[in-house]
Amino acid sequence: MTNRVHNFNPGPSTLPLDVLKTIRAELLDYRNTGMSVMEISHRSPEYDEINNQAIALIKKLMGLGDDYHVIFVGGGASTQFAHIPINFLKEGKVAAYVDTGTWSAKAIKEAQNLGIVHLAASSKDGGYIYVPVLEEIDYPNDAAYLHLTSNNTIKGTQYHEFPDSGSVPLICDMSSDILSHDVDFNQFAMFYAGAQKNLGPSGVTLIVLRDDMLERINDGLPTIFDYRTHVEKKSLFNTPPSFTIYVVKLILEWIQEQGGLKAVEDNNIKKKDAIYNLIDANPEYFRAPVRKDSRSWMNIVLRLPSEDLEQKFISEAKTEGLIGLKGHRSVGGIRVSLYNAMTLEGAEKVAEFMENFKRRNG
Ligand SMILES: Cc1ncc(COP(=O)(O)O)c(C=O)c1O
Repeated sequence: MTNRVHNFNPGPSTLPLDVLKTIRAELLDYRNTGMSVMEISHRSPEYDEINNQAIALIKKLMGLGDDYHVIFVGGGASTQFAHIPINFLKEGKVAAYVDTGTWSAKAIKEAQNLGIVHLAASSKDGGYIYVPVLEEIDYPNDAAYLHLTSNNTIKGTQYHEFPDSGSVPLICDMSSDILSHDVDFNQFAMFYAGAQKNLGPSGVTLIVLRDDMLERINDGLPTIFDYRTHVEKKSLFNTPPSFTIYVVKLILEWIQEQGGLKAVEDNNIKKKDAIYNLIDANPEYFRAPVRKDSRSWMNIVLRLPSEDLEQKFISEAKTEGLIGLKGHRSVGGIRVSLYNAMTLEGAEKVAEFMENFKRRNG
């Protein structure tokens, strides 16, 4: 395979090469149907199998039982920012949110349009360079739910453990770290993720809901906004993004072949260590703004001594086949996104490039 770069884009992002090869091999004639998955009916037995296998693999990899429902919907994770309060925020109740940056702020804004939000904690004052520790998170014990963002893609912070929210349902936006490490998924009442980082191409959002959440859904919602519709119809209420879900299924199989979540986690630890260790060994040159206990394993944010050097870094990296290293426009600097499909070799290449860059421009 020629011309493949090391792609550090924050999403849509790199996909495993083996998965791309399978897609290519099956593209014109999916399992003797004489059609690609893009062309077959979402009501066909072939698609039904893809859908069922994807659901079963999610449950298996996450250790979830029959009390959880897995659904796939369109609209991106941002749509869930509105659908969550539409479904679960009731009059007389508050929805509790932890504000850890751009994405949680967007989720909060949507909930504020629909009801009352209780800010359970925020790291805004510190410039979002950490995630509030569990003891800092405060909310009424009759809140409709507590919403967190597990990994903050833009600022490069991440929760490594989650609060025990007792009887308050814990809802988590896991868009940028889903299936990247071994988490007890049974602690969540609901979690969701746009596919385009760890799960596949853009176009589908994975939602996992605990059974008891279905009883909490507000009545009288438009059918398509009501989570029960998608649970009952097994994500086939209307035409799903079927090709994307097919790729998600291939990614889940790939995760399984890697050895499951523990193996993926081990590899992700090696990848992030290759870069954070270098940063920590050269703090006068590579400045990592994020507090150490909140560092993201998925998105490493760093600054160089000047913006000119940062621009030089990004363009020189590109000539060496390391692309997508520019920080988000709202924070600047460098961001190294290390989603599951990024290889250890890719992470080590960046570390080597960083070291050489410092030597040449120190
Ligand atoms: C943590 C997080 N939540 C939500 C979103 C929004 O996802 P979408 O573009 O699928 O709406 C993103 C996008 O990068 C994200 O990183």
